Amino acid sequence: MTKLRSSEITPEHIYLSRRAFMVGIGALAVGGLLNACGNNEEGVSVTPGPVSADSDELGDTLNSYRDITTYNNYYEFSTDKEAVARLSQGFQTTPWSIAVGGLVNNPKTYGIEDLRRFDQEERIYRLRCVEAWSMVIPWLGFPLRKLLDEVEPLSTAKYMRFETLYDPNQMPGQRDGWYQWPYIEGLRLDEAMNDLAILSTGLYGKELLPQNGAPIRLVVPWKYGFKSIKSIVKIDLVEEEPTSLWMAAAPHEYGFYANVNPDVPHPRWSQATERRIGELSRRETLPFNGYAEQVALLYADMDLRKFY
Ligand code: MTE
Repeated sequence: MTKLRSSEITPEHIYLSRRAFMVGIGALAVGGLLNACGNNEEGVSVTPGPVSADSDELGDTLNSYRDITTYNNYYEFSTDKEAVARLSQGFQTTPWSIAVGGLVNNPKTYGIEDLRRFDQEERIYRLRCVEAWSMVIPWLGFPLRKLLDEVEPLSTAKYMRFETLYDPNQMPGQRDGWYQWPYIEGLRLDEAMNDLAILSTGLYGKELLPQNGAPIRLVVPWKYGFKSIKSIVKIDLVEEEPTSLWMAAAPHEYGFYANVNPDVPHPRWSQATERRIGELSRRETLPFNGYAEQVALLYADMDLRKFY
């Protein structure tokens, strides 16, 4: 199959109406490209579900389903963004459970089905990668706060620590010794309680594909994308600030907070602008990725040039 260049990719609503048209004139020809799961050979589902809007609250257009599912950072599979979709096909996401424990009143191991029982909301968020590219993604998920309400953190709990699956048989990237696997991330408890922080189980009206962190991942839109940890199997409430995989691997780059901040450059590049996938010119990066109104108060007494 020929691979589409990103310049040929259309916004999803146009794509959808085009698809409806194609179904009218030649459903069989389209069907011929699909395997039993409705995915094509690159591991990309070509049949996104419905979304409520074609842009975010700033008027930024959604990235296409194809952009979102073919350009991925997921080092457990590959450091090549365009290879992740293919290499993660067949990743086992059922059965799946997440153990939530540590400093809580009600530790509990949830099956993925238990978590889908929380009302799933659509949240259209910008995702700003620390590498200075970005996308607009219609996630499906539920506020992290709802999980916290169930497990009831003890008063000594100050942070949440998240852990990705460790399974080198399925995740070839974990066989190299470059990083300290599994992938770990963390949030301060008040950050985790903020309504913007969600656990996502889907996007574009469908269940997550492996490349996007199936079956469940964190989404924290005011922080660099690496905080939004994928394929979570363990969550602990802890007293001490957790050390993330990236804090251990590159302590001179970003620290625990990693809030999007155009004024604090990466040691090797500026963070003042970003490349929105699908656009030619760069756009300015917004403080807290455009969510300052909702989150700046969390850091009112911190020097964000020092704690980043
Ligand atoms: N989670 C795990 N477990 N492993 C990863 O390599 N990459 C992070 C984040 N979560 C990563 C991860 C980075 S750098 C980004 S930008 C986002 O996932 C990308 O999410 P996406 O591929 O769904 O766009």
